[in-house]
Amino acid sequence: MTGSPVSDWTTDYDVFDPDYVADPYPVWDDLRDACPIAHTERWGGSWLPTRYTDVSAIAHDVEHFSSREITVVPQPEDDTSAVGFAIPVPPIDSDPPMHTWARRLLLPWFSHRRVDEYEPVTRDLCNRLIDGFVDKGHADAAADYAQQIPARVIALTLGVPGDMADTFTGWVRDVLEFAHDENRRTAGRDAIALYLMEKMEERRSEPGDDLISVLLHTEVEGEPVADMHVLGTAALTLIAGVDTTWSGIGSAMWHLATHDEDRRRLLAEPELMPTAVEELLRAYSPVTMARIVADDVEVEGCPMKAGDRVLMNFPAANRDPEIFEDPDRVVLDRAVNLSVIHVACLSSKVPPLPNGGGRESFPARGRPEVDAAVDRVAVDLRELVGREVQSFERGDVRLELRDAARSDQGRGDPVDRLPHPGRPAGTRPGSAELLRPGSR
Ligand code: HEM
Repeated sequence: MTGSPVSDWTTDYDVFDPDYVADPYPVWDDLRDACPIAHTERWGGSWLPTRYTDVSAIAHDVEHFSSREITVVPQPEDDTSAVGFAIPVPPIDSDPPMHTWARRLLLPWFSHRRVDEYEPVTRDLCNRLIDGFVDKGHADAAADYAQQIPARVIALTLGVPGDMADTFTGWVRDVLEFAHDENRRTAGRDAIALYLMEKMEERRSEPGDDLISVLLHTEVEGEPVADMHVLGTAALTLIAGVDTTWSGIGSAMWHLATHDEDRRRLLAEPELMPTAVEELLRAYSPVTMARIVADDVEVEGCPMKAGDRVLMNFPAANRDPEIFEDPDRVVLDRAVNLSVIHVACLSSKVPPLPNGGGRESFPARGRPEVDAAVDRVAVDLRELVGREVQSFERGDVRLELRDAARSDQGRGDPVDRLPHPGRPAGTRPGSAELLRPGSR
């Protein structure tokens, strides 16, 4: 359990230690050199790989490392909550062969076509948010911008009202940020489940073109998809889609506000936005995920026993100097990111693409589902960059806007589209400028 100070990070790490939460990077650097796979007895016990090659190998080794439990803090066995049953969240908590078809059911929702459909709506939302606080001249960058976007976009996928966004945000925070607080975690999970069950009943008789309706009316090998599967996949879409993107947007804003040279470069060279977003997602990777050891296995001399938990430390892997030169520096046009993807969304358990840049690693950009995650952040960030936003101190995250930053001035040009592989890159006029507080 947390509370007592960590005596030795190699044998006693604590992912809830407040200093570690605030700045884990020095710990990972030490561990990569001294003991690349650390261990702890805290929180039920787990292993913590810190090198890219180890994280990558474990992610792909679905034979030894199962996703049937994905939290590093074990959940109580009778943790069935008020809905009366434990809710699976496929595909994230499944292994092949189930993972294969469960993931396939979701892939159309991450296609280039689908992302293109969401793009104008997302742009409009971003601009409306900025319009909402521009006259005040300042805003809380996290609460008033980053956290406002993802829930509203996911609401479109689920076909539920966008004005539920604040409620969704509260539920997702309960489930993820307060996962160690049983009451909050259970309350959040119950609320999501009860809400989605109600929506499922509605969509059963009156289907729309949303994810819930489509899953309810889909068959796999001649059988309808089970209600529990539909419920869990819808819940996962909400949870996985919200926290990841708002963290990505928030970190990117914070970086640009505190690194003037990068902010100015992105303004001067807007065509760098795609690699810049990937680089920001690499440097500030928002997601870790657990695996449970299915069969005894030894990794780098560490004897992992069936039932042991492993915390998939994607953020540490993404700052491994063996893979990324000068990994703690954000390089907006870092080329290696195009071949070694670090986002891992919907792809970590499947084999790498054949063009994976020659590295056995996570799939390359070029998978639509990976593009979708990257582009979601890019659209949101691009609107902000284009609206002459300035800002930020960590802990006192504020957006400062020039008086002139109005949507009619900053709104994206129609050609201002994100380049996908095989789609020409658009550019936007470079007139907009990000400014730091005090520089107007
Ligand atoms: C920058 C944004 C995102 C990042 C960095 C990210 C990252 C990740 C990571 C690391 C995993 C875990 C893979 C594993 O278990 O090894 C994952 C899984 C998943 N994410 Fe994302 N994600 C992002 C955005 C989204 C969005 C917007 C959605 C939905 C709308 C989403 C839906 C999912 C789903 C359904 C899974 C389970 C996939 C599977 O098990 O194959 N993610 N994501």
